[in-house]
Amino acid sequence: MLERYEEAIRGDIRMNCDTCAYRIALPGFIDKVGRPQTPHHHPDDPAGAGHVHAGHVHEDHHGHLTLERAMAADPGLSYHGDAELAPGLVDLAVNVRRREPPEWLRAELAQTLGELAACPDPADASQVVAARHGRGDGEVLLTAGAAEAFVLIARALRPRCAVIVHPQFTEPEAALRAAGHPVRRVILRPRDGFRLAGAALPPGAALGVLGNPTNPPSALHPAAGLVAHARPGRVLVIDEAFMDGVPGEPESLAGCAGVPGLLVVRSLTETWGLAGLRIGYVLGPAALLGRLRSAQPLWPVSTPALAAARACSPARAVAEAATLARAAGLGLAANRRSRASDVRRFRRFPP
Ligand SMILES: Cc1ncc(COP(=O)(O)O)c(C=O)c1O
Repeated sequence: MLERYEEAIRGDIRMNCDTCAYRIALPGFIDKVGRPQTPHHHPDDPAGAGHVHAGHVHEDHHGHLTLERAMAADPGLSYHGDAELAPGLVDLAVNVRRREPPEWLRAELAQTLGELAACPDPADASQVVAARHGRGDGEVLLTAGAAEAFVLIARALRPRCAVIVHPQFTEPEAALRAAGHPVRRVILRPRDGFRLAGAALPPGAALGVLGNPTNPPSALHPAAGLVAHARPGRVLVIDEAFMDGVPGEPESLAGCAGVPGLLVVRSLTETWGLAGLRIGYVLGPAALLGRLRSAQPLWPVSTPALAAARACSPARAVAEAATLARAAGLGLAANRRSRASDVRRFRRFPP
C-alpha cells in the first residue's frame, strides 16, 4: 500500500490487487470488499475494456489478475515448457500431433546429409512456399522457426507503440521487450470466447501482434475481422503457427497480398513434428520483408530445414496436414465424449 501511495504521489500509480477496492478495505470503499465487480472502461484510453493500464489489467474478474501477475514485467515470458522436460515426460507444447516427422519427410531430410558441405540457398524453397500461398517470390522470408520471425520484427522495426493481444505465445512480447520497445497489452476475455469482440488495437498502435488460431485459448478469429485492424503506417503481425491445424485454413491471411503492413508468420513445427529443425516463414510485402531480412544472421535456415519447407508445401503435403487436422479434431471430440461418459459413470457411485 505504501508503495502504491508513493507512486500515486509521483503521479504514476501502478494499479494492482493491493489498490483494488473489491479486495482491500480502502477508506471510503469498505462496503465494496468481496462484492462482484462492475466492468469499468477508461473513456480516454482507446484500448477499451480488458486492457493493461499502468501494469494493471482493467477487468471485471479477478481471474485476469492472475494472468497479469504472471506476466507483468516477467522474465518468465521466455520460459517455455521444454525447460521442464525430463525422461518419461511428454512435451505437449510441440508433440501434440506426432512424436516424430512422417517417414516420407524423414527420407527427404536424410537426403540432404550429402549436401551439407555447401552453404544453404533459400531460393528454391522460397519459391515453393510462395507458390503454396499464391504469393510472389519476394513475399516470403524463410526463418529459423516462427520464433526467429518475432525477433526479426522486434529488431528491424521501431514501432512507437507496440501492442500484443493476449493470451498468446509469449515470445513476440519477449522479443519486443528485449529489443527495448515498450509494449502494451490487450487482453481478450473468456466470456467473449477470447474473440476480438470488445477489444481492439488502439488507433495509435504502430505494431500489433495477434495469434490465429490463438494459443493457448484456440480461438479462431475471422480473417475479415483481422484485416480490419490493418492500416497504413501500422505493421499487423498475425501468428499463424497453428493455422495448418485447421482443416482448409478458412481464416488464414497467408495468401492475402496487398494489405499494407500485414505480416503472416507460419511454422512447420507442430504439424510435422519438426521442433528440433527450426523452420518457419513470414509472408508479407517485399519491402517490409527486406527490412526483416537485413536483421537476419548469415545462413539462418539450414539445408535440411529448407528441404522441409520444400517438402511440406506442395498440395499433397497440404492435404495430408488437413487430414491430420480433421483426425485430431475428431479424436479430441471422441476424447471429450468419453470423458463426459466417465464422469456420468462416476456420478452413479455414492460419495
Ligand atoms: C503460437 C505459437 N507461435 C509460434 C511458436 C513458435 O514456433 P516455431 O517452433 O516455428 O518457432 C509457437 C511455439 O510453441 C507457438 O505456440
